[in-house]
Amino acid sequence: MEFDYTKDPEFPRENIYPIEWDFTDSRAWKLYSRAKSEQWDEENFDWNRLREVASGLDRKERIAMSYWWALLSNFDNATAVFAFALVKGQELHVKKSYEALIATVTCDECRHNLLCGRSIDCMMPGFPTKFKPTNDLEERARRNVLWTWYNGSRYWNAYKQAYEKYTFDVLMTSFMMGEAAATTVFTEMGRHARLEPFPSAFRSVARDETRHYAFTHLLMHEGLNEMSEERKKLVTKQIRAGFVFLSLITYRPPKDFWRLPPDFERTHFELESIARDAGLGVPLMEEKELAWRNAVMRVGATVSRYGVRMPDMPELGISGEDVGEIDESDVMPVF
Ligand SMILES: [Fe+2]
Ligand SMILES: [Fe+2]
Repeated sequence: MEFDYTKDPEFPRENIYPIEWDFTDSRAWKLYSRAKSEQWDEENFDWNRLREVASGLDRKERIAMSYWWALLSNFDNATAVFAFALVKGQELHVKKSYEALIATVTCDECRHNLLCGRSIDCMMPGFPTKFKPTNDLEERARRNVLWTWYNGSRYWNAYKQAYEKYTFDVLMTSFMMGEAAATTVFTEMGRHARLEPFPSAFRSVARDETRHYAFTHLLMHEGLNEMSEERKKLVTKQIRAGFVFLSLITYRPPKDFWRLPPDFERTHFELESIARDAGLGVPLMEEKELAWRNAVMRVGATVSRYGVRMPDMPELGISGEDVGEIDESDVMPVF
């Protein structure tokens, strides 16, 4: 191939080159600085102490807590989600400040997932993939997690394709519901948990999720001002998708989307109650409902400023726009 070096090169489309820096976006850069100063290290928690405490607990209690962390890991498995967003965002030449922020979110999410793994490692190492159940409840616990993860794999396939369907800002704002829910849930759990290091861990995660939520705000503020009616509708649908997907851990799985064993809820509530009594800080059903309602209200208040309507949430008795059934091609949000 011959090149004409007297001219500037022509860069391929959707490529991470050429590079541009813009430092005028002060709100985003401020949030980026905050992301760095608020970093914490999950390795600093006293995991040996937790292992010691765990050895004095019933096997049932250790399994129930491992079960909850394994379920949470389905949603706090967002390292790849944001790493993928980082690649796509760079190819689409989003602002440098957004790129920097997504890099910090990727790092945060990696830490959140490791927290799930560390907790399981103290309670029931190898759960659930290398775990040998010794009774019916243990087998149901294992199966519930694997089926939840199977739905996670459906989510992941759909997420990768979503970049062909949605614009980057719509995609990023679809995380809003998840971040809002996570902030509320982890703040509550930080208050209720009794077993160290769980209270401190939940408080630290809540701080990260608050920052992620602030980032989705920024994106909404900048990108959605001149949004078309069609894109507003997509955001409404994404809010519903967030609710449907995340409800498994924050509330109860709605009928849309989920493919789960018929006895899923029976097992789930049984294990949650054992984990709660053992000091994990799992909220009660009424508390979960209240937390979801608060999160939905917060998101609703934000998006209404941009002319975006809230979806129907019959599960919480909230009426809004009917967005139809949510299936796997709609689901994007994570924690
Ligand atoms: Fe998050
Ligand atoms: Fe997270």
